[in-house]
Amino acid sequence: MTKIIIIPGSTRNGSVNVQLGEAIRLKLQEMGAEAVLISLADYPMPIFNADDEAQNGVPKEAKDLADLVAGCEGVVLINPEYNGSLTPLLKNTLDWFSRDVGVKVYQDRVFALAACSPGALGGIRGLSHVRDILVSVVADTITPQLAVGDAGGAFAEDGSLKNERAVGMLETMCETLIKKTQHLAD
Ligand SMILES: Cc1cc2nc3c(=O)[nH]c(=O)nc-3n(C[C@H](O)[C@H](O)[C@H](O)COP(=O)(O)O)c2cc1C
Repeated sequence: MTKIIIIPGSTRNGSVNVQLGEAIRLKLQEMGAEAVLISLADYPMPIFNADDEAQNGVPKEAKDLADLVAGCEGVVLINPEYNGSLTPLLKNTLDWFSRDVGVKVYQDRVFALAACSPGALGGIRGLSHVRDILVSVVADTITPQLAVGDAGGAFAEDGSLKNERAVGMLETMCETLIKKTQHLAD
């Protein structure tokens, strides 16, 4: 069974991207994957500073989360769009992952991207910035992605997505990710 970790780039109370993370988790589970939704609040890392790193090394939290990711064949990064780009929280996490965390976070697994925003575009502009970063670390990233707009009205009471087009995007992303990770789990 393929194992997929879902990492939302927000730790805000009532985060719509965490809400989307739960909808993704449920869909992946329904499709037969083992899916886990984590919170970056459980892995607090200082803002990357090379002097700090030289003095104190990589924080334990970065290594712990990297180990968790290394145990998975798939990773879903959920980015709340900030000024057309990434949240500092997600960028900082991705930067720490590129350091000497003891495992190769970006190799031997497949990445997928998602976003949710109150705006009409659903945070899709920020996803191309996340994708650019994944290209520079040579991480295999699937093309189908999920951007959910109108966050306030996007979710049903059971946490599922209401909009038919959004559900279609969710299913395509999850199906593709499971298909592309299956051989890694065998
Ligand atoms: C600094 C900042 C910049 C933002 N920029 C954008 C933006 O470019 N596009 C967008 O759709 N929403 C933008 N938003 C609104 C966020 O999408 C919204 O606050 C969202 O709820 C954040 O995600 P979260 O609920 O998961 O924390 C911005 C919010 C903040 C605080």
